[in-house]
Formats: sequence, C-alpha cells, structure tokens
Amino acid sequence: MKRTHNCGELTGKNTGKEAILNGWVSNRRDHGGLIFIDLRDRYGITQITFNPKVSKEIHAKAEKLRSEFVVAVKGNVSKRPKGTHNKKIPTGEIEIVAKELEIISESETPPLEVDEHINANEDSRLKWRYLDLRRGPMQKNIILRHKMVKAVRDYYDSRGFLEIETPILAKSTPEGARDYLVPSRVNPGKFFALPQSPQIFKQLLMVSGFDKYMQIIKCFRDEDLRADRQPEFTQIDVEMSFVDEEDIYEIHEGLMKYVLDKVFKIKLKTPFPRMNWQEAMDRYGVDKPDTRFGMEIFDVSDEAKESEFNVFKGIIAKGGKVRGISVPKGIEFSKKELEELTEFVKVYKAKGLAWMKVGKGGKVDSPIAKFFSEKLIKEILKKMDVKENDLLLFVADDWRIVCDSLGNLRNHLAKKLKIIDPKKFNFLWVVDFPMFEMDEEDQRPKAMHHPFTSPRKEDLDLLEKEPLKVRSVAYDLTLNGVELGGGSIRIHKKDLQKRVFKAMGISDEEAENKFGFMMNAFRYGAPPHGGIAFGMDRFVMVMVGADSIRDVIAFPKNKAAISLMDESPSEVSEEQLKELRIKLDIEKPNKE
Ligand code: AMO
Ligand code: AMP
Repeated sequence: MKRTHNCGELTGKNTGKEAILNGWVSNRRDHGGLIFIDLRDRYGITQITFNPKVSKEIHAKAEKLRSEFVVAVKGNVSKRPKGTHNKKIPTGEIEIVAKELEIISESETPPLEVDEHINANEDSRLKWRYLDLRRGPMQKNIILRHKMVKAVRDYYDSRGFLEIETPILAKSTPEGARDYLVPSRVNPGKFFALPQSPQIFKQLLMVSGFDKYMQIIKCFRDEDLRADRQPEFTQIDVEMSFVDEEDIYEIHEGLMKYVLDKVFKIKLKTPFPRMNWQEAMDRYGVDKPDTRFGMEIFDVSDEAKESEFNVFKGIIAKGGKVRGISVPKGIEFSKKELEELTEFVKVYKAKGLAWMKVGKGGKVDSPIAKFFSEKLIKEILKKMDVKENDLLLFVADDWRIVCDSLGNLRNHLAKKLKIIDPKKFNFLWVVDFPMFEMDEEDQRPKAMHHPFTSPRKEDLDLLEKEPLKVRSVAYDLTLNGVELGGGSIRIHKKDLQKRVFKAMGISDEEAENKFGFMMNAFRYGAPPHGGIAFGMDRFVMVMVGADSIRDVIAFPKNKAAISLMDESPSEVSEEQLKELRIKLDIEKPNKE
C-alpha cells in the first residue's frame, strides 16, 4: 500500500485511474451510508469516499477512522457529482472511491486542532509544535522558507561567492547582546561563547583571501525577545574584499530582486532608495522607516516656543523638541481612544500626548488650543499639511524620546487605521549611521553597529574630539519598516582600530584580550573589506506576511526564551555539573 500519488496531485485528468494515497485523516463525515474523509499530506487534500456498495468490509473499517489517523487507501479516481466540485483546491473535481483501506497508525484525540484557522494560544501551539506544523499555513511558511534559502544560495553561487562554515564554539563576538556560554569540561573554568554573529571569522576569511564569502548560519543572542527577535536565529552572512559600500548595495539589490522574482514572482525596481539615518529619525522617528504610508513627523518647536503652553516652552528651553503627526480622519477618535494612545507613547517614555482635532474650515478643538494664538495655529496647520478632519498628536521631550514615541505611534496608527497597502514591498537603505551612541549605564560611547565599522573619512578628525558626531560607513536594508539586515565597511588598519577602541574607552589590554587574534591578523596584509548580514527569519516573515518570526521557524522559543516542546532549558544532573566543575548559586524555592 505504498503511495502512487500524493494528496495534492490527482485531478480530472486522472479519472478512471487506480491510485494509492497515504496521509492523515483531516476529517470524517458520515452521509446516509456514505463515509467521506479528507486525506491530507503536505501537498494537499484529496477526498476519499467509502461506499458500502463497493465494499461492506472497507466501509465498516472506515467507521473507525478518526482525525489524524495515518492511513493508506487504494481506489479509483472518479469525477465528483455535478454541483459538489470544490473550486478552492486543485483536487476539488475528483474523489477516490476506496476499495482497500489500511490503518497504518492511530491517533489519540489531538490536543491541538490541526486546522487552517487556529484559536489555540501560542504556548500550546509551541508545546505541540509537531501538530501545529501539520497545519496548512505553517507548512506553507516552511516550504516558502526552503525556497527562499535555496534562491539565496543559488544567487550568491552565481555571483562567485563561496559558502564557508565558521565555528559555533568560539570566543565572544562584539554584537552587543549577552553571550550564551558553553563550559569546557576539558578546560575547567573556561567557556566558549556561541557566536552572536560570525563577524570576526568572516573578516579573518578576508585576510585569508576568500574575497567573496557567504554563509547561512545560526546566531545566538541572549537578549530581550520580541516578535522579531529569537535567542537563536539565522543570518545570511556576507563579506567581500576590495569593495566599497556601492558594491555591497549592488550585490544585495540583485539578491532581493532575484529571490522575490524566483519565489514570489514579484518584480522589483532597482536601485533601492536611500535615506541617511538623521533624516530617517527626523521624518519617521525610527531607523527603519515604513515608507508604505505618509503620516510623517513634523517639528513645531519654533511655533510651540511662541505659545503660552508652559509644558512645551519648558521642554524647549531645556533643549528638547516638540513634534507631531497628523492622523487622517483622526477627528473621530473618542476620548477613550486618545487615552489609549497616551498610554501607548508612555511605553516609550513620553510624558504625555497633546492633541488637536481639526474640524470644518480649520476650526481647532483641543485642550491646549487656548495657549496658542490663531496665527500660531494657522502656521502649525500649514506646516503639517493638515486637512479637515485630521487629528494632530504632539509629543514634547528629548529628541530621542520624541523620535521613539512618535515613530512607534505612527506605525501603530497605520495598522489600527488599516492604511497600509499589503501589496507593497518597499525596500530602503538607511545609510550614514552614527559611529557611536552614548551608553547610558557606562557613560561612554559604544559602537552603534560594532567596533570594526569604519568611520567616514571626512569625520576622522572628530574621533578624539567629538566622537558622538562621527558618522560611519554603516548601512541597514529595511523592508516595510523591518530591519532586514545591516553591515558596514570595516576598519582594516591596526592604528585606526586602536583609535576607535580608545574612543569607546576600551583599553589596549581589553582590546588585546577580546580581539587580539583579529588585530594580529591585520599585521599580515589585510585587504580593505566590508559586508552585511540579513536576518533570514525576518526576511521570510515579511515576505509570507507573518506577524512574528516564530511563525517561520520550525521549532522556536517562546517569549521567555523557553522551548515548551522539549522543555529546554532544563536542569542537569549533579554529575554533569561536577564534571564541569560548576557550582550553582541559586536559592531553592521555599516548598511552603
Ligand atoms: P546585526 O547585529 O545588525 O549585524 O544583525 C544582522 C541582522 O540579523 C537579524 N537579527 C535578528 N533576527 C532575529 N532575532 C534576533 N535576536 C536578531 N538579531 C539580529 C536582523 C539584523 O538586521 N555582524 C553584523 C553584520 C555585519 O556587520 O556584517 C551583524 O550581526 O535582521
Ligand atoms: P496638563 O496641562 O499637564 O494637563 O497637559 C495638557 C495636555 O498636554 C495633556 O493632554 C497632556 O497629555 C499633554 N502633555 C503633557 N506633557 C506633555 C509632553 N511632554 N508632550 C506632549 N504632550 C504633553
């Protein structure tokens, strides 16, 4: 009873043929003597009928079938009666009239319904992941992921890249998250770090002369999780020698063009638009602008300064900004909705959200209107290109908080108001990132990308004087408001690398200890080089329209970095700890 066809294959053209199908029982329906089952595998669904007139014995056996039984069925392909065709599936014209049935494997009642539309909460889906993965939408995601990975490899191969594996057990890499550590039994007290990225190794491969490297590789970061972050995730990692940023852009616009065409039949126009980081932050509040819709941010600090509103004036006097967005048709927002929006921006540390509703003829309704002259209001409406029925929302605070809160509010409102065209795929390069940002905890500049990123030549003089003003040759590729990938042209000279470490307050000793092996390599002929890495999971997520990268990873961790299916991480035995010479320092929970 080995299958001759799969469950998505047989159509009207096969009518009359004998076929054997293997698969899972999706459901069973009893209709006046006839039993119907939908037989499912990853290729599709085929209807099977059991007719007592064909075989009483087989029909009786079919009564035992339950959801998720694995069966083999032999029968003839026959056209379904007129009016019973299912146009939604390719096999919808036919059914198999069973003459043999083998129950290969029974199933208990599954704890999770294997259905297209699922109501189960995500934790149960993760606990019973192998059942969740049986569902059509998940199978589709996993299959598309395979096709995308294959297209990515084919593309790089066609452009002369080599895929080279780098170690998983290695020294800490500088991506800024916490490391996952692995104790070494044979070297007690010593640890490997799982790679946050293969950054150092790929640069060393450039020193070795492998001028076009790529790898699809797992990376590990112990950080706070979100919808687009996992503790282990997959990167498309790339490095090239004797190139500048234009070469990286060209190669990767080609990559996106190829993959979207090959897998999704989407034709992209290149080159992709570019925007510098400062402009992205000012106009969109985030470094990964979603350019599929407007609602851009405007600065009204000048107007607010002239008003009588002391909250705004005080913040401006302290060097802060007043900025706002205008929400199309937002005049309909209720008091409760406005309160919700205020709570939303508070998450991003904003202290409040001021609003103005713009009615007929530009008449403004707002608790703060009384502090603004008519002239000032007119100026604001003009500046923000406001239309009748718009709602204006303002945040006054430090530049960074204004950006964060309005940028995220803008994305939130676009989703809420459903103004995003889901057919758009807007790629955007964000370029000229600052080299450093202030580390509030340590009160010293830390690398915004990573410390091997090259500063822009024209800003080199600022490295010692005003490090926070130095821009870098770093770039991100964003798609529909998601950071797909980022990279940079690297420093390939030892002395410049030293200056950058110094600007970050990293001592020679610390640099030597952490990255000495790379600095050493640079003594023996390092070519100029640069690269980029993309989040494969995020790329698939955006392309298949998933809300979370968990939906495009076969076995992801939940939001608490736990795998609910295999219950890892888990405790280990005393012996294992002893062998590793590790003593735990954890208070045992009080039994009472
Ligand atoms: P970066 O740290 O920007 O750069 O990472 C590159 C891309 O990897 C994805 N990514 C993640 N995806 C899921 N879960 C995570 N926790 C996660 N963290 C990162 C993002 C991101 O854009 N070595 C450099 C690249 C280089 O300079 O060449 C690096 O790793 O899509
Ligand atoms: P108050 O006079 O403090 O009641 O504030 C009047 C309005 O201004 C309220 O709607 C507040 O939400 C808003 N508001 C207060 N502080 C800020 C701020 N920093 N940025 C934007 N709006 C604010």
